[in-house]
Amino acid sequence: MTERIPVILDGDPGHDDAIAWVLANASPLLDIRACTSVCGNQTIQKTSYNAMRIMTLINLHVPFAMGRPKPLVSEPIIAPTVHGVSGLDGPALPEPDFEPLPISAVELMAKVLRESADPVTIIPTGPLTNVAALLMLYPELKPKIARISLMGGGIYFGNWTPAAEFNILVDPEAADIVYKSDIPIIMAGLDVTEKALVFPEDFERIRAVGNPVAKVVAEWLDFFYGFHRSKGYAGAPVHDAVAVAAIIKPEILDSKEYYVQIETTGDFCRGMTVADWYGYYHKAPNARVLTGIRREAFIDLLVEAVTYYNQEEK
Ligand code: RIB
Ligand code: CA
Repeated sequence: MTERIPVILDGDPGHDDAIAWVLANASPLLDIRACTSVCGNQTIQKTSYNAMRIMTLINLHVPFAMGRPKPLVSEPIIAPTVHGVSGLDGPALPEPDFEPLPISAVELMAKVLRESADPVTIIPTGPLTNVAALLMLYPELKPKIARISLMGGGIYFGNWTPAAEFNILVDPEAADIVYKSDIPIIMAGLDVTEKALVFPEDFERIRAVGNPVAKVVAEWLDFFYGFHRSKGYAGAPVHDAVAVAAIIKPEILDSKEYYVQIETTGDFCRGMTVADWYGYYHKAPNARVLTGIRREAFIDLLVEAVTYYNQEEK
């Protein structure tokens, strides 16, 4: 039996964060040590409430703490057009059956790293505010971070501006700190996540599994696809689940190493993840950029994950 991989889930649920957490919790390969919330898709109050409802729904009872109320230096940007006013519109969810710890997300992350015998993988699926704060406040703990498998950026295009993807745009200063940290980064940017499309017929495969979690995931997809269908997408790009798939099923992904810089100024390109495709800067790569995915295998992974929750009913 291989050792399970210790992970921290940090997100701004958010429909795709929620599905990412359902996937992570169902994997026998992961040892989820803690969950933390970050402001992004919605305010920190809403993303925290959503995080605790998701954790209650999937019976993920690990330490949870709330993140910072705003990005490191800029004002929050939220995404109600995509995720709704609650940040997780759609199906009814249980009320949280636990309280957040009376410490910050950063303090909880530091505690987990300090107490772990082995280096921990951090899976941020929202803005990188908490992770950057962790690196600034506890630089001595960097050796206890095995890698960061993040959803964010895009080396060819953005989705909130022409140049910038939402998670990076919300807190470019935080992303800059993370990408300069020398910690191994797996970058699930739009280059791969917009290929991780879940089609309506896949929603029905998930719904047909029939347990309460499967039904909720299908209804999250129904809602999440609403925005994307209006933009002409053939399916819902479940961005955040790719950052989890990169850890539990790397063989379904293609990637390339790049030196990536974060634009933190600029009138048109703030928040852009600028990949040095041709090596102009002669710098060693700092990110393994995911570039492709076996979509069918990704869907099978999601179906397998929701099937895990059949046993929860027993
Ligand atoms: O750009 C997509 C990312 O922004 C996803 O993580 C989504 O949840 C939002 O946070
Ligand atoms: Ca997210």
